[in-house]
Amino acid sequence: MELFKTYKLWPIEPVRGRGCYVWDKEGTQYLDLYGGHAVISIGHCHPVYVEMMEKQLTQLGFYSNAVENSLQVELARNLGEQCGYARHSLFLCNSGAEANENAFKAASFHTGRKKILAIGKAFHGRTSGAVAATDNPAIQSAFNKTDNVTFTPLNDIDSLKIHLASGEYAALIMEGIQGVAGIYEPSFEFWRAAREACDKTGTLLIADEIQSGYGRSGRFFAHQYAGIEADIITVAKGMGNGFPIGAVLLSDKIEARYGMLGTTFGGNHLACTAAIAVLKVMQQEKLVDNAATVGQYLLDGLKGNKAIKELRGKGLMIGIELGEEWLDLRDRLLFEKHIFTGGAGKNVIRLLPPLMITREDADSFLEAFNTLTL
Ligand SMILES: Cc1ncc(COP(=O)(O)O)c(C=O)c1O
Repeated sequence: MELFKTYKLWPIEPVRGRGCYVWDKEGTQYLDLYGGHAVISIGHCHPVYVEMMEKQLTQLGFYSNAVENSLQVELARNLGEQCGYARHSLFLCNSGAEANENAFKAASFHTGRKKILAIGKAFHGRTSGAVAATDNPAIQSAFNKTDNVTFTPLNDIDSLKIHLASGEYAALIMEGIQGVAGIYEPSFEFWRAAREACDKTGTLLIADEIQSGYGRSGRFFAHQYAGIEADIITVAKGMGNGFPIGAVLLSDKIEARYGMLGTTFGGNHLACTAAIAVLKVMQQEKLVDNAATVGQYLLDGLKGNKAIKELRGKGLMIGIELGEEWLDLRDRLLFEKHIFTGGAGKNVIRLLPPLMITREDADSFLEAFNTLTL
């Protein structure tokens, strides 16, 4: 059997990782400023993570959600304390798209409404509802297209208010920082207006923090910079440092009933252990603060470079929009300097490194970037 060819592959195969670095089969070392697409939070193969996972695997890898699982309770308590949403409750699933599906479902159950308002250029995943709320017709099949989702432009407060005033929407969903679009931030005014309009119209506010959350922005959640609270927050990516896990944080105004949401694999023993290890290391090593400081260091070091048309983002979620003559820079960073970065469209480099990146690692990148753009 061959693989279904849905990914464009780089001809490189990382086989080993440690911290902010990976190595290929030939032993070539790569600096990882991509984090396997914003997934590696505490660093590749962190010893605390490896030890906890090994131990759990020898005890119990999986049992179903029909029995008690104190790892889920421990994870919920630790996450609530660290992220500032101790009063929300936690539903565990396996991926970002699945988290958004469940967020839409919970919002629809709660309000009795069926429509979702999403933001222009949004990306929320590839499952049916999530892809319908993703502003990219190329990845929506006829089956996914629906009248239940409307898009409104980012940072256009008037348009947002007009849509929500209809009272038709179960929820408004917004990324903490738009990632796939190329790193675009909702303004603080937009978040605050969204919060106010949602309250006025009985709409739930969903913050999709799947890419921007878990400390990446320099706060636990990017929307917390705006000083507002979301009714539902979705997370995945950095939550398990590579072990598949996603979650929905639900406000206490949303009442649970048995059978309302469910999953076979979500919240299994290994996934919970991975997520508990991530939170432990994030706290011990103050990784949210590190994301803020090293992120700012990177932004400062990039400022003024002539190849850059615009620099965007916060913490370790940085978008470098390149001028037309520099479109090969991402490939050159990879093949000439052995540095992985992310991309968005054809002219944006996305930096999404592990949150434990050091200033020295940042210096290696800056030196490579500046040398290639001399
Ligand atoms: C903001 C956002 N939401 C949702 C998703 C979907 O997550 P997953 O690929 O885990 O389904 C992504 C993935 O890139 C994302 O960036």
